Parts: sequence; C-alpha cells; structure tokens
Amino acid sequence: MIHELSNPVVKTLLNHLRNSEIDALRFRHIVHELTRLLTYEALQNEVMLEKEIETWQGKKHFTFIDEEHLLFVTILRAGLPMIEAATALFPKSASGFVAMKRDERTHQSITYYDRLPDCKGKTVIVVDPMVATGGSLSDAISLVKSRGAGKILSLNLIGAPEGLEVIEQKHPDIELFIAQVDERLNEQKFILPGLGDAGDRSYNTPEYSA
Ligand code: PRP
Repeated sequence: MIHELSNPVVKTLLNHLRNSEIDALRFRHIVHELTRLLTYEALQNEVMLEKEIETWQGKKHFTFIDEEHLLFVTILRAGLPMIEAATALFPKSASGFVAMKRDERTHQSITYYDRLPDCKGKTVIVVDPMVATGGSLSDAISLVKSRGAGKILSLNLIGAPEGLEVIEQKHPDIELFIAQVDERLNEQKFILPGLGDAGDRSYNTPEYSA
C-alpha cells in the first residue's frame, strides 16, 4: 500500500529539493530530514519491547523499538544519505547495500553489487529517494524477499504514478511511504516535475566519464 505524506513540513522540504541552486551539502541535509520524517511515519506501529535500564533512580523498565530486528537496505548511490539518517536513529540496526544502474537505453535496472546481511524474519526497510519506472525498487524488494525478509517497508522521497503502480502490482504486500507523488514520467523516464537525479544532486556528478 502506498502512503503519501501530507504534512506541510514534508512538502516544504521536498519542494526545496527541486531548487537546482541548492548545493550538494544542503541537498543531502534535506534528504536526511525527510528520511527521519518518513521513518517516524513508517514505524509508528512497530512493536515495542520492554527493557530494563539503569536510570538516575536505579533499574527501571521502559519500552523501545527492537533495533536489532531492523535491517535498512539501500540502493546505491542516491540512497546513501537516506540510510545514513535512518541508521543514526537506530544504531543497533543492520544495513545492507545493493547497487543498481538503470540502462538508459532500455530503462531496465541492472543489479551489479549485492551486500545484504541475513534478512530472515527481519523488518526490512528499503530506502531510495526516487521511484521512476519502479524497476530498481521492485528488484530490490524481490531480492530481500528471496533472502527471507519478514515485514518490508519502503521509504521514498519522490515518485511517478507509473512506477508506484508497478510496485503495487508486483509487491502488494509491502508498505511504501513517500513524501511526494509527482505528475508523470517523461519519454526518458525522468520524473516530472521532479528534482533531477538525486544521486547527481547529492554528489555533484552531473556528467560521467563512463
Ligand atoms: C535512481 C534512483 C533509483 C532509480 C529509480 O538511481 O536513485 O534507484 O534511479 O529509477 P527506476 O524507478 O526507473 O528504477 P540511478 O540509476 O540514477 O543511480 P544513482 O543512485 O547512482 O544516481
């Protein structure tokens, strides 16, 4: 199921990302903030565990999210600022990395690196800023499913209805939280109005040598 966040704070931050004059540092900073807001939203029904901790009044019991049950997975490279922010909230969570590249001719995603820890029974939270055709995210979700993931959540900043439709059809069992559903894809499969390429914007690499 797709959950688009309606909060004006989220919309304001997302719209700042559309401004091509902001530099990479500010871009990544806003991505961090949006990731935190998406995480709060996505984990609001997460099971809490009671733990005993040492407090200023001695040993007491309080409830916490079971961080060790969480596995954050990102798709390189645009997802790096997102996983950085998410795992800062849960330092005992695990992280996994998948690298996918979109073939600019066929628009298909190709997996060329996969470094995932054991997913069995974990709550797997896939983080990737953009859902264009949905190919990369769909493949990443299939991969974590094939490794035995338990509950699967997806956190995304911006998406096109076409790509989100693909995710809903291929993975109706996951919950996807997104800051903004934009209008459509153009012929080159870029999101409109969009914000450009989040990886390039985050790392100042508008042109490649290869
Ligand atoms: C972007 C983005 C997604 C993917 C979305 O990555 O971060 O992973 O494209 O497109 P899709 O829905 O059509 O698969 P990109 O391939 O530009 O690589 P990058 O992260 O290195 O910029």
